[in-house]
Amino acid sequence: MLDLSKLIANQKPGFTLQQPFYTDPAIYGLEVDRIFLRAWIYAGHCSQIPDRGDYFLFEIADESVIVIRQKDGEVHALLNVCRHRGSRVCLEHAGNVPAFVCPYHAWTYDLSGKLRSARVADGELDRAAYGLKRIQARILHGLIFINFDNTADNFDPIEHDLDACLAPYGLANAKVAHETSYPVDANWKLAVENYTECFHCRPSHPEYSLSHSLAVPEEKHQALWDGMDECAESIGLVTERFSRTCADSGSFGNDRMYDHYPLLDGYETGSEDGKLVAPLLGNLKRAGGIASDFQVGPLTFFLAYSDHVVTYRFVPTSPLQSRCDISWLVNGDAVEGKDYELDALTWLWDVTTIADKRIIENNQRGINSSFYTPGPYTKMEEPTRQFVEWYLAGISTEPQS
Ligand code: FES
Ligand code: FE
Repeated sequence: MLDLSKLIANQKPGFTLQQPFYTDPAIYGLEVDRIFLRAWIYAGHCSQIPDRGDYFLFEIADESVIVIRQKDGEVHALLNVCRHRGSRVCLEHAGNVPAFVCPYHAWTYDLSGKLRSARVADGELDRAAYGLKRIQARILHGLIFINFDNTADNFDPIEHDLDACLAPYGLANAKVAHETSYPVDANWKLAVENYTECFHCRPSHPEYSLSHSLAVPEEKHQALWDGMDECAESIGLVTERFSRTCADSGSFGNDRMYDHYPLLDGYETGSEDGKLVAPLLGNLKRAGGIASDFQVGPLTFFLAYSDHVVTYRFVPTSPLQSRCDISWLVNGDAVEGKDYELDALTWLWDVTTIADKRIIENNQRGINSSFYTPGPYTKMEEPTRQFVEWYLAGISTEPQS
């Protein structure tokens, strides 16, 4: 029987988590309740559903959400669970529908989730009581965030902090040039831990390390760092950099971060030859050679260059499996084949994510060993240590509702 408080009491500060945190189905069950169903998660971009009835599905753990454009232009997030006997209502990953017809007994729901017809049972029940359940959806510069917890009222501080930082990129007018998923045979935390540190970049990502200063200690490129804020300002970026976690605000799930760092000499963006791979985004005046990191909640991250933004989402699917969903955003009016080529646009983060998948899966295999014991995080893994601390606070907090 799992004793969470004992595990947490045994957790050595500054060290990796003990094995059960990466393997135990009971811990995973707690994570669903205490983390995944309470956090703000990036679901997709408004440009994916421009017209009434356009929708896409977002799936995490056992949950499936229909993100759909309404008649009045609003975006709603509906739970994909029929109110009759619980079947999935929508089976196609994306599309356009006039209404949803459950594939089991054909109950029919309108775009807002209202039950329109229960067929012959119409006279037997109060249709108003059996609409599809709706969860929160908020839009920030075209980015759609959802939260399964309808009592969570903590998106406003995220919006307040990130609004001005995101504005120069003009993401409300961007589009998804490409999206893909990488299945990872590892616990989701290993994927997030790996994303939050660049200690592994030099040995594992030769391509990334040629262009990104995070791959080496800051002092090695002091001149680049010294001039970065001035450069950021000159191209139109916000220079304030911050990381706010639930520990700062006392509000679980509204973690957010904005940071940036210089690219190495000769690199204007994250591309193979260092040259831009798409037109400048939004209001940016020039490339500048800066990469900006954004984070919303524990699972979603954004890496913004001056010509494209890469969105990352680490999605738990079972205790030992997860998914890394990536999309590439470019200006909405950019034309593939003329303004950008997909191969050039996606090259860096495809090759880098394939390598990440390999090292994360090897990490899980090692942790599965009976001989695994937690090891120390180093200075370059400070954000990862903070993530683990944040996680332990989250997993040990019983939800109020
Ligand atoms: Fe959906 Fe019966 S389960 S109509
Ligand atoms: Fe990596």
